[in-house]
Amino acid sequence: MTPKMPTRIALVTGANRGIGLEVARQLGQQGMTVIVTARDQQKADSAAQELIAEGLNVIARTVDVSDDSSVRALAEDLNTQFGHLDVLVNNAAAYVDWTETASSADLGAVQTVLETNLFGAWRMTQALLPLLRKSSAARVVNVSSGAGSHGDTQSGLRTNRGAVASYGISKAALNALTVKFAVELEGSGILVNATCPGLTATAPGMEAMGARPVVDGARSVVWAALLPDDGPTGGFFRDGQSLPW
Ligand SMILES: NC(=O)c1ccc[n+]([C@@H]2O[C@H](COP(=O)([O-])OP(=O)(O)OC[C@H]3O[C@@H](n4cnc5c(N)ncnc54)[C@H](OP(=O)(O)O)[C@@H]3O)[C@@H](O)[C@H]2O)c1
Repeated sequence: MTPKMPTRIALVTGANRGIGLEVARQLGQQGMTVIVTARDQQKADSAAQELIAEGLNVIARTVDVSDDSSVRALAEDLNTQFGHLDVLVNNAAAYVDWTETASSADLGAVQTVLETNLFGAWRMTQALLPLLRKSSAARVVNVSSGAGSHGDTQSGLRTNRGAVASYGISKAALNALTVKFAVELEGSGILVNATCPGLTATAPGMEAMGARPVVDGARSVVWAALLPDDGPTGGFFRDGQSLPW
């Protein structure tokens, strides 16, 4: 009898809506057990129910990535229940408004953005690293954005007269964090990459701005979760193609 392959376990933050929910769906469609997380229990449950109704293997958990104790509790719970984790998708994100510039920014609001987009991913990766180390082929995917790129000529750091300041800065820092984890973990079997979903229609009216369907944005993220063992680490990608830092 052929030995049964253990089910791979993936966790997605901010998976109650938007790209996170669709990433969870696509990972579930790959046969993974997906832990759908949201900061609100009801939202996590209802997202999980939606995917379970589609026949996917999904579990709901709560986590607020900006809260140390919430992240620690999740890590302890997963350690008890599963003992390992194969895929971590740091998708949760916050932003202020699209007109915010460095000179006008409310630094309290900036801190909230960094707390979620940078420290949230950092906190989650630190807390879950012991479980990722127990996987035979772990993948960490930091959902970044062209807004954090020096070279993106449409929405990058040098465009739009500096608008979306804290969001762009948070994603540039997330890219740097991706490299630091990737280099530190080289040879461990854990691949760490940043991916941009591209402009994706997760809010009303975004199609009119040229945003693409959520299914396509999510696919760009899922690509990095499904990399083979000899895949890249420490990169920044959209649709499997390198992006300029
Ligand atoms: N959409 C785009 O065009 C685009 C382009 C480039 C990159 N991205 C990136 O893609 C990712 C997903 O984007 P999206 O458009 O799907 O975002 P979204 O619709 O705004 O959803 C953001 C998700 O993050 C969650 N979240 C926020 N703060 C959190 C916290 N402290 N702890 C846990 N969860 C938290 C939200 O939960 P609540 O429902 O509770 O608020 C929500 O589930 C983000 O990283 C974003 O920066 C998006």
